[in-house]
Amino acid sequence: MLLAFKPYLQKAPMLPRLLSLAAGLALASQLAAQSADLSALHSAIDKQTTLIEAKVVDWRRDIHQHPELSTHEMRTAKLVADHLRALGLEVQTGVGGNGVVGILRGGKRGPVVALRADMDALPVTEMVDLPFKSTVRTTYNGQETGVMHACGHDNHVAILMGTAEVLASLKAQLPGTVKFIFQPAEEGAPIGGAGPMIEAGVLENPKVDAIFGLHVGPGLSGTIGWRGGAIAAAADGFRIIVHGKQTHGALPSLGIDPIVVGAQIVLGLQTIISRQSDLMTAPAVVTIGAFHAGLRENIIPDSAWMIGTVRTLNAEMRTDILARLKRTAESIAQSAGTTADVRIDLGYPITINDVALANRMVPTLRRVVGDDQVHTSSASLTGEDFSRFEEKVPGFFFGLGVTPKGKDLRTAAPNHSPLFFADEAALPIGVRIMSNVAVDFLAGGAPQKP
Ligand code: NI
Repeated sequence: MLLAFKPYLQKAPMLPRLLSLAAGLALASQLAAQSADLSALHSAIDKQTTLIEAKVVDWRRDIHQHPELSTHEMRTAKLVADHLRALGLEVQTGVGGNGVVGILRGGKRGPVVALRADMDALPVTEMVDLPFKSTVRTTYNGQETGVMHACGHDNHVAILMGTAEVLASLKAQLPGTVKFIFQPAEEGAPIGGAGPMIEAGVLENPKVDAIFGLHVGPGLSGTIGWRGGAIAAAADGFRIIVHGKQTHGALPSLGIDPIVVGAQIVLGLQTIISRQSDLMTAPAVVTIGAFHAGLRENIIPDSAWMIGTVRTLNAEMRTDILARLKRTAESIAQSAGTTADVRIDLGYPITINDVALANRMVPTLRRVVGDDQVHTSSASLTGEDFSRFEEKVPGFFFGLGVTPKGKDLRTAAPNHSPLFFADEAALPIGVRIMSNVAVDFLAGGAPQKP
């Protein structure tokens, strides 16, 4: 900073020159003090994380053993709320469903940063042999199933509880406010949990300047994958009913066969991706997840129905593909002399990281886990309702690898698999990452509005 003052100082008269010099020195010493404060905070985060490491592992095991489906996160929410209250935070419960919010007002003035963890589990029967394996069972969509934290949200909750404890211990030195957002129903698309929390005002009072979140997944334990811009897809659902005309299986010309028409629609929809979309702009997927028709071998049924999902990473492509889907299904049905009803249910929007914010925070990630542990990752066609927060405020969502060292990454079970396994060594790393991201963001001030 002082070097930049030099040309001006050499030409300036004596008194203003001394004043400028004094101002420059004051600014330099202020900056030096701030960076010393920040280094002290960084060391304190490391020290505090080490102290609570075992507790974070215990919380995660407890939550893992007691998974709760979307909109049923009562036990998890209570565990979180009790913990935040014990830390002395301002706590709000029942925010947009089972959401819990903890507000930590630092001892120094500064911006407001939000950190988010999702709390819900999935209707998956755990097949990993752990001492704290889930044995919870439920009925889901009329079927008996286990319940499992197969997407690793148990890790997210434990990491954010740990981060709250670390930052609460540094309250007096914090240059701003931290809002801890524990969100329900991330897996509960299309409504989800972020939207209802936003409607309940989670991004206001105090107004959030930026939001951060992480997601665990396959990747070497403790490594970080990140990307600016679109990182997760819009996930839109659809349902198509093909109207046929029931007839004898031996006399198809007397009716309209909705199974053959439906099969043509299944294949026709695939050509939207393979022949009609510019996949150099962005990848996209259309999947039919269920197709139902008929009762026995010699009756052509009256109707067929199918449901599916469309995944897109580009807003224009999203609109275009959904329009083509409707047109393709209706036109194929029309060509067979019948009709198809197409219903599209818009789901989570595209998750888009704020490029400037991501670039600003990557040096923090590198400092915390090491340069060689941070890599850029490709976007995913999975959906994520962190996207709803990022529609409202600048956000940065990144991946934390939890595949144990020595395990072949190519054979690591993906999220949502009954074999999904998270290495606990990544938990304290997650706490250090979230704590440092919060502190560095606050110290750097709110992003400039364009
Ligand atoms: Ni998830």
